[in-house]
Amino acid sequence: MSVLTHSAAWRALQAHAASLEPQTLSQLFAGDGGRAQRLSAEFQGLFLDYSKQRLTGETLDLLVALAEQQGLAGWIGRLFAGEAVNHTEHRAAYHMALRAPPEATMQVAGRNVVPAVCEVRDRMRAFAEAVRSGEWRGASGERITDVVNIGIGGSDLGPRMVGKALAPLADGPRAHFVANVDGAQLHAELPRLRPESTLFVVTSKTFTTQETMANACAARDWLRATLGEAAVPKHFVAVSTNAAEVQKFGISLDNMFGFWDWVGGRYSLWGAVGLSLMLNLGPSRFDQLLAGAQAVDEHFRTAPFGQNLPVLLGLIGVWNRNFLGLADQVMAPYAQRLEKFVPWLQQLEMESNGKGVDRDGCRVDYATTPVLWGDVGTNSQHAFFQMLHQGSGVHPVDFILVREADHPYPRLNQLLLANGLAQSAAMMQGKDAAEVRAELIAAGLQGAALEAAIPHRVFNGNRPSSTLLLPRLDAWHLGALLALYEHRTFVLSVIWNLNAFDQWGVELGKQLAGRTLQAMEGQGAAGDASTAQLLVRLGY
Ligand code: F6P
Repeated sequence: MSVLTHSAAWRALQAHAASLEPQTLSQLFAGDGGRAQRLSAEFQGLFLDYSKQRLTGETLDLLVALAEQQGLAGWIGRLFAGEAVNHTEHRAAYHMALRAPPEATMQVAGRNVVPAVCEVRDRMRAFAEAVRSGEWRGASGERITDVVNIGIGGSDLGPRMVGKALAPLADGPRAHFVANVDGAQLHAELPRLRPESTLFVVTSKTFTTQETMANACAARDWLRATLGEAAVPKHFVAVSTNAAEVQKFGISLDNMFGFWDWVGGRYSLWGAVGLSLMLNLGPSRFDQLLAGAQAVDEHFRTAPFGQNLPVLLGLIGVWNRNFLGLADQVMAPYAQRLEKFVPWLQQLEMESNGKGVDRDGCRVDYATTPVLWGDVGTNSQHAFFQMLHQGSGVHPVDFILVREADHPYPRLNQLLLANGLAQSAAMMQGKDAAEVRAELIAAGLQGAALEAAIPHRVFNGNRPSSTLLLPRLDAWHLGALLALYEHRTFVLSVIWNLNAFDQWGVELGKQLAGRTLQAMEGQGAAGDASTAQLLVRLGY
């Protein structure tokens, strides 16, 4: 048994979970008039109601004790002090510095990195303003009307998600995103664009990612075919930490926007990786996004655990995963504009905490990240909510609701909110056989038909969820929302004693893709009989 599962705090939670088990959520509400208020927390308009989780105040105290035992306060301190918390790569995880105000001091290895961050931000701003105003033009003198971000993983999911979420605020060149090495994606974009007015932002921390470089080369060929080689500098800029590779590709360092190895890919949206957003939304909205995230950084760093939203979200995650044995986490944003939130969060959470060995390299004997999935409401109600309500397993949900709409259809917003609230209530309350029976009798059913119909209509209820309310989906609140979940991921990693900032699990597939490609080119054989057979079927 590991130190963690052997620890007093862990065992106390196990015992507590067993003692709480017989009580349903409805009973917990019935027995405690102040439950909803007490099991809620707020930060600058972000309101978290976690009273529909299967826990009590005592649970929370025990979870806080676990966090203390795991040294959460110390880890938060280390994270914000720029220490090398990513110990397998000897790096800090200092994405918070990307959103720090210019007057802040944030040090990595004894050096304040804020001036360098601000310098890149200022260059991004100047470039974005030049493109947006028409001062920067394409090689043939046309204004830039379309920006294509070519990147994958953290170099795609963040900007893509924010671009969607803030689309109504966009007043610059249209933003497009190409990630997949499936040429269908590039081909879906390029025929709609004109080379004369298109700017490509090649976004890759390493500038060696196979998919990104292949797409960037294909895009460059497309541009050259019409405008010639000399046009490339006016239509390609780079976002990267790898100046040598950027130059090798043919992009001048004047048109490279850098960041640092202390920014993990999935945490990188806040710096140069957000360039396509700055172009599309304008620098001041991008600043608002940073300001919202920065406010949550301060909250996370300073608020007591019991009122600290990222800490609460993390501790609830641990409770559900490790003590209630729930294997997944469903996200249900009731906001169409958050349609790309779940993929972003999937990388954030599952690439960070999808680990089976702890920081010391020992195999864990406790569950780590749940499978995180979901989609926007109300669409998801007509897809997978059947399982959430009546499936054989229990799937905890985070509902995200936005109070104020940004469209001229107040009635639609009311319907959206009513549905979101109703789903969490239905998951909690359920409907028992007696209630179903009464309804069916009232509808005229009787005898064998009545008895046969009842079991299919029973909802067990007692299914946990949290609801996070945002006042509106503007840049500030979006930034705050994203930082909330970033820090939640860190909290989970601390409790589980994981390094949230490396991702060695993606390497083997990359290696084998290289070998498979060689086999396809006739250099060497496939590594196993199944792959060899499939290659033959694919025509190689
Ligand atoms: O999938 C692995 C990964 O390294 C991610 O962590 C990262 O976000 C993505 O690839 C893209 O990497 P890069 O920005 O270096 O192209």
